[in-house]
Amino acid sequence: MSSFAEPASSPTALLLLGQAQDLGSERGVECPGDLPVASDPDLVARAHAARQKLGSNAFVLGHHYQRDEVIDFADVTGDSFKLARDAANRPDAEFIVFCGVHFMAESADILTASHQQVVLPDLAAGCSMADMAAIGQVEEAWDALVEAGVAEDVVPITYMNSSAAIKAFTGRHGGTVCTSSNARVALDWAFEQRPAGRGKVFFLPDQHLGRNTAVRDLGFSPDDCVVYNPHKPMGGLTVEQLKNARMILWRGHCSVHGRFTADNVATVRRRVPDVNVLVHPECTYEVVSQADQVGSTEYIIRTIESAPAGSAWAIGTELNLVRRLAKAHPELKISYLDRTVCFCSTMNRIDLPHLVWSLESLAAGRPVNRIVVDPEVAHWARVALDQMLALPGI
Ligand code: 13P
Ligand code: SF4
Repeated sequence: MSSFAEPASSPTALLLLGQAQDLGSERGVECPGDLPVASDPDLVARAHAARQKLGSNAFVLGHHYQRDEVIDFADVTGDSFKLARDAANRPDAEFIVFCGVHFMAESADILTASHQQVVLPDLAAGCSMADMAAIGQVEEAWDALVEAGVAEDVVPITYMNSSAAIKAFTGRHGGTVCTSSNARVALDWAFEQRPAGRGKVFFLPDQHLGRNTAVRDLGFSPDDCVVYNPHKPMGGLTVEQLKNARMILWRGHCSVHGRFTADNVATVRRRVPDVNVLVHPECTYEVVSQADQVGSTEYIIRTIESAPAGSAWAIGTELNLVRRLAKAHPELKISYLDRTVCFCSTMNRIDLPHLVWSLESLAAGRPVNRIVVDPEVAHWARVALDQMLALPGI
């Protein structure tokens, strides 16, 4: 039997969802008035009808963190990297409907052909981590590294969870993109680009993925890592600190994974005998140090799919995915690592009304919410993405 709490109705969950709505309106993103209401009993039938009308002209991608009501209409599901590749492998589809967040739809636009249009059903579906690194701040930081005399030793790497402009920055400066599945390979590659012992990586925007990979996989000490705070002159660091560092980590984090604590791990170990704690590397170093297994979204799914019947798991990643895994595996005892943590509120922005609205608009020949990356930005971002695709074992 799977044991699973239902935190969606908790005050914390509702509070966080409410905060996300405020963030959305700060972006100034509005949907036109013909958005169906969430309570419309015909939504499922309308989604099927629009989907059928579009046929193979539309390809619907669903990220693992999407709601069930959206996943039900996805032609394929996957992590951000797999979905970008899936989109690129469907040149016959004129419309790519990306049920995920903004940076993922941008990557799909960069990797698809020019005759294809990428649609994000709700433009307010951003990513708080990606928003923590603005291109102006990153350019300023690079100037600071030049001034400190370290830039020539530095290879920039950005996590997939970043804007196209940041990916373009890494492309222009000889760096690459990585995902949580290939961060280790990307770091190995970056250090090989500079003389042994001298290279540094400027890792954007997730400090935790950068630190966890450097320390756990490459054997660096946490002291080899410094955190660059974009709100302080020279990142709040001295020239000496920049010179000594091997990893210069941008001060960014995921607002969902960053909420898990080492105390959550201790609590679940007390509560559930023989529990296996499985977390995403966007969690803090303290949390991953206490976990039994650490890995990307795809790794988490594979691990659960091959787990022995009766085994107990506490999973530290986004709630939609954990709930689906718990439902699909009643033979396992699956629980959420922290009962008070909620869904990724921006992923949850894509709901059935937005999906129906975007599909019906496409079927009516009026594409809405197209994601179009500026050609110059797309060129350099593609350089960085192609470098990732050329990494060994990708
Ligand atoms: P993936 O790279 O596993 O798709 O993760 C995306 C994400 O947003 C993780 O928080
Ligand atoms: Fe961004 Fe975190 Fe949501 Fe992923 S889970 S989209 S990193 S805020």
